[in-house]
Amino acid sequence: MAGDVLRILIYTGKGGVGKTSVAAATALRAARMGYRTMLMSTDAAHSVSDSLEVPLSGKTTKVEENLDALEVDMLYELETRWREVQRYVTNFMMSQGMDGITSKEMAVLPGMELMSALFYVEDFYKRNAYDLVVMDTAPTGETLRLLSFPEVSEWYSERLYKMMKNMLKLARMTVGKVVDTPLPSDELLRDLEDLAARMRRVQGILTDPKVTSIRLVVNPEKMVINETKRAFTYFCLYGLTVDGLVVNRLYPEESDAYFKDKLEEQRKYMQVIKESFSPLRIMTCFQQPVELVGVKSLEKMGDMVFGDLDPTMPLSLDKPLEIFTDGEFDVVSIKLPFTMKEQVNLFKTADSLLVEVGHYRRSVILPVTLASKEPVKAEFKDDRLLVKFKEGAKG
Ligand SMILES: Nc1ncnc2c1ncn2[C@@H]1O[C@H](COP(=O)(O)OP(=O)(O)OP(=O)(O)O)[C@@H](O)[C@H]1O
Ligand SMILES: [Mg+2]
Repeated sequence: MAGDVLRILIYTGKGGVGKTSVAAATALRAARMGYRTMLMSTDAAHSVSDSLEVPLSGKTTKVEENLDALEVDMLYELETRWREVQRYVTNFMMSQGMDGITSKEMAVLPGMELMSALFYVEDFYKRNAYDLVVMDTAPTGETLRLLSFPEVSEWYSERLYKMMKNMLKLARMTVGKVVDTPLPSDELLRDLEDLAARMRRVQGILTDPKVTSIRLVVNPEKMVINETKRAFTYFCLYGLTVDGLVVNRLYPEESDAYFKDKLEEQRKYMQVIKESFSPLRIMTCFQQPVELVGVKSLEKMGDMVFGDLDPTMPLSLDKPLEIFTDGEFDVVSIKLPFTMKEQVNLFKTADSLLVEVGHYRRSVILPVTLASKEPVKAEFKDDRLLVKFKEGAKG
């Protein structure tokens, strides 16, 4: 057994690379090894059911011994988990002259699938309901957006607030005037507070490498590799541990002459992958002659990807964010692969360090002892950004 903690594996990658297949293959393999496993889809365009060839829904379905599966169903989640939020949004929209059904659909916010899934995870964690939760996600962009919520506690209310404002604008344009705008109820405000607290707990679970591992899925193709390198950087920026990478759809070396060019290219990209992601554990899976659906094919895929490896074991406990003291300096160390110093912007506020890389920004809350000090130096050492703080000095 992997230990007495729940393990969470989140598969992510560019569209169509094989996330769903690898996630299903992992869950199946773990279940057959005796782990109590939950396979959960957070992609609104669910395909776990197609992959396993088993009908699934928004409620837990038993697939076989030790294996449950669930495809997060937003309408069901809205009726239950997001009831107050939904009621408010719906009333609000209807007060603006929109019909009930459209209003109801408008209450589905981007990222709600994954967020609902994370709340399930928190619940499983508390109840010790499973040994392993495998999460299949939507293509990288959406997953990153959600897992990267900088101030978790504000994420939801901010979104909701922005949406309210936009809707108000829309209503003004279409109806001409705003009529009887309902005020948020006490229940809604309590719900939002409760959500924020839960999000903080979920973040604790997500950033513990003994519990949560992100696994990247790629194909040996330039665009896929580049997008995945960027994703890797951002996961590190947000403190999430990436512990492995699956290269899917490899052509076997003994493929016939027709594939000669393809193989040449593939060797080149495998080299790029190794150089880029080392020392990350790399697993591989060959392109199959037929579509990979059904339990039999998934079993085969699991064999190829994991061999003798226990799929539930953390393959790395590397912490992307560390804070320590080194002689005269206090150091904030952030793993930022594929990043140059010029791409990084740093700002210090009263209690946090803001780190900006490209469009992504993370606010690192500083321990009290550090908050009173000033950053005096920032440098890269290997793939880590070291920000050094010193007493009293003005940076
Ligand atoms: N190694 C493989 N050999 C043959 N077919 C494969 C392989 N891996 C995946 N497939 C097939 O490719 C298609 C896409 O795979 P999958 O749905 O797992 O990708 P995905 O990354 O989840 O896609 P999406 O981004 O749309 O969610 C499926 O039909 C699947 O059966
Ligand atoms: Mg998929």
